[in-house]
Amino acid sequence: MRTNHIHKIAVLTSGGDSPGMNAAIRAVVRNAAYQKIDCIGVYRGYQGLIEKDFINLDARSVKNIINRGGTFLKSARSKDFKTEEGQKKAFQHLREENIDALVVIGGDGTFTGASFFSKAHDIPVIGIPATIDNDIHGTDFTIGYDTALNTVVEAIDKIRDTASSHDRLFLIEVMGRDAGDIALNSGIGAGAEEILIPEENMGIERLIDSLRRSRKSGKTSSIIVVSEGDQIGQNITKLSDDIQTNLPEYEVKVTVLGHIQRGGSPSCYDRVLASRLGVAAVDALLEGYSNVMVGTRQKKIVYVDFDKTIGGKKKIDKELIRVADIVST
Ligand code: F6P
Repeated sequence: MRTNHIHKIAVLTSGGDSPGMNAAIRAVVRNAAYQKIDCIGVYRGYQGLIEKDFINLDARSVKNIINRGGTFLKSARSKDFKTEEGQKKAFQHLREENIDALVVIGGDGTFTGASFFSKAHDIPVIGIPATIDNDIHGTDFTIGYDTALNTVVEAIDKIRDTASSHDRLFLIEVMGRDAGDIALNSGIGAGAEEILIPEENMGIERLIDSLRRSRKSGKTSSIIVVSEGDQIGQNITKLSDDIQTNLPEYEVKVTVLGHIQRGGSPSCYDRVLASRLGVAAVDALLEGYSNVMVGTRQKKIVYVDFDKTIGGKKKIDKELIRVADIVST
């Protein structure tokens, strides 16, 4: 049941790109077309709102993009949107085009901007969580995370071939500024000996003791997955030097996977998630919601206030930490 009057919406992607963003845009545009609502695409996130970089989108404009990584609307982290003046301009441009509501696809920073904007200018905004980090409170999964995990596991499988052929110890840095989800899950999936995450400070001594023990138990090569936000792993070259000094019997190598993790065609899981959340975002607007993120909890669509998702911190799964400890012995 339509409880408010939404005739035209705008959609944008903001922050770091993630595989599945295109599928989410497609679902927003197609649900808008299905509900007979006009849709505008905004290029380069909030910066494009400020510069009025808009494009009309209809159901056919989003053909052949479900399988493409990145975002065809492009993305940016806009400094101007953090200013009152920038937000005023953005709102003025939305009004000039008679846009009644906004759908933003991105992560924590995107939702923070959306929340301020929506409150200051009284325009409904709905957020769709898309980031490879899976660090958004209030949703079980974010768009792009599953694809990134598969990319990381594939890369580690390849590195393992060299590690085992040369009896080497590899430190593999994966993304995840503040969250260890990528490291923990890819580490288990790729059979890593050790996994370093920001949520748990293992400490260098414990790490070296553990590596010594596994060497004694007969292991000749080792894979250590290091989240970029981990405390002892932040300077991966220093960590590598410390391990090399303490374990001279190993040849220690470092691989930083970097942006390879953000690219590529989205997995089926991410395409389905993006399609569900894109449809749900437009449904949410028609049901009169504003200032919420659409997410999934235990497979069901949920609406979470921006304030709750921004303020909250997602907890790492302790059961997975135990599993990682047991299966790596
Ligand atoms: O938030 C996604 C993410 O890929 C993080 O894992 C990483 O720390 C960051 O973005 C990198 O950002 P940029 O592409 O701007 O260097």
